[in-house]
Amino acid sequence: MVSTDHPDQSEMTANRYEQLVQSVVDYAIYMLDPSGHVVSWNAGAERIKGYKAAEIIGQHFSVFFTPEDCAQDRPEQILRKALDNGVAQDEGWRVRQDGTQFWALAALDVVRDEQGQIIGLAKVTRDITDRRESALQLDAVRAQLFQAQKLEALGQLTGGLAHDFNNLLTIILSSARMASSSQDPQRVQRLLEHIIDAGQRGTQLTQQLLSFARHRQLSSVSIAPLALIDSTRGLIEHALPGSIEFEQQLATELPLIEADPGQLQMVLLNLLFNARDAIEGEGRIRLEVDCVQLAGEVEGLHGPFVRFNVQDSGVGIEAHVLPRIFEPFFTTKSFGKGTGLGLSQVYGFAKQSNGAICASSKVGEGTSMCLYLPAVLSPP
Ligand SMILES: Nc1ncnc2c1ncn2[C@@H]1O[C@H](COP(=O)(O)OP(=O)(O)OP(=O)(O)O)[C@@H](O)[C@H]1O
Ligand SMILES: [Mg+2]
Repeated sequence: MVSTDHPDQSEMTANRYEQLVQSVVDYAIYMLDPSGHVVSWNAGAERIKGYKAAEIIGQHFSVFFTPEDCAQDRPEQILRKALDNGVAQDEGWRVRQDGTQFWALAALDVVRDEQGQIIGLAKVTRDITDRRESALQLDAVRAQLFQAQKLEALGQLTGGLAHDFNNLLTIILSSARMASSSQDPQRVQRLLEHIIDAGQRGTQLTQQLLSFARHRQLSSVSIAPLALIDSTRGLIEHALPGSIEFEQQLATELPLIEADPGQLQMVLLNLLFNARDAIEGEGRIRLEVDCVQLAGEVEGLHGPFVRFNVQDSGVGIEAHVLPRIFEPFFTTKSFGKGTGLGLSQVYGFAKQSNGAICASSKVGEGTSMCLYLPAVLSPP
């Protein structure tokens, strides 16, 4: 006769499982009967939900739900879903014994006996309040960052546009003043044309703003530099005081360049107005346009470039100021006179166009600003 003092094998396994489930504290693991009443309870369930086993066993699992969820019959729906499909998952607010709430991630699995009869449901719940809160905080921070970036971009853009509008209004006002004091009908006609031109530029500017708002690219087209200079000169002529002499030297044959014409004109106006502002009393501004072959000497650029050079006989720029002039909002002009956005726009435009802008200056002698834009092959 064989005697055994070992406990039955399956009983041992069941005990081990019981120990395992009981030792888990991060998950609430418990069983429900098919009607949704609690039949077992582990240490994790006690830790997360607050009830001791004796207090909760026998109660319906709807006590864990918020009154709103109960009113909508949510516990029953989840139970039904699990019984119908074998499994149900849910995420939402749950109520602890002390009435506080936590955000739960719960899974409900049907448990069957060997004959396939449903004997209950295994419920595993995790408290993911912290995870949810950090996800929400992350979302909020992301949204704030996005908003800040948009505002920053919009601020830069509207600042730049206000700046360009100011340049155009200067042209419109000075042309209008001259027209109102002129007796020469032909001159008045010319001045009116400049006003219309500047007005149209203003309209184009608002279109640029709208195209930004719709996230469209500005339109780059092939530009003949001389035609563009012609219209820019027309614009600036009357905005310069009589004490400033304006000269230009333009190469007769120039290759085409590719850029947004409205933007390029604003860039040239920025350079010309800076030159004007640098001249106290009498002085001279010279605009040179030619084509140069670069071999890396200007910001590592190579190939044919159209160079727009604006020189003035103004006060010049001190050596310690020179490295800062392209910074946004850097200005040496008094409050209300300058925004410091002019050259940062010029810089941005040059970079976007795969070109460069260079400044050289001597205090007391004047300043030279060179804008390089890549030449494109002229049509035959
Ligand atoms: N031709 C120039 N001669 C002397 N200083 C210049 C010249 N061009 C630019 N600067 C210096 O660079 C600074 C920045 O120029 P920028 O065009 O960015 O702004 P701003 O002219 O001061 O203001 P805004 O363009 O809004 O009127 C000027 O304040 C000035 O000190
Ligand atoms: Mg300026």
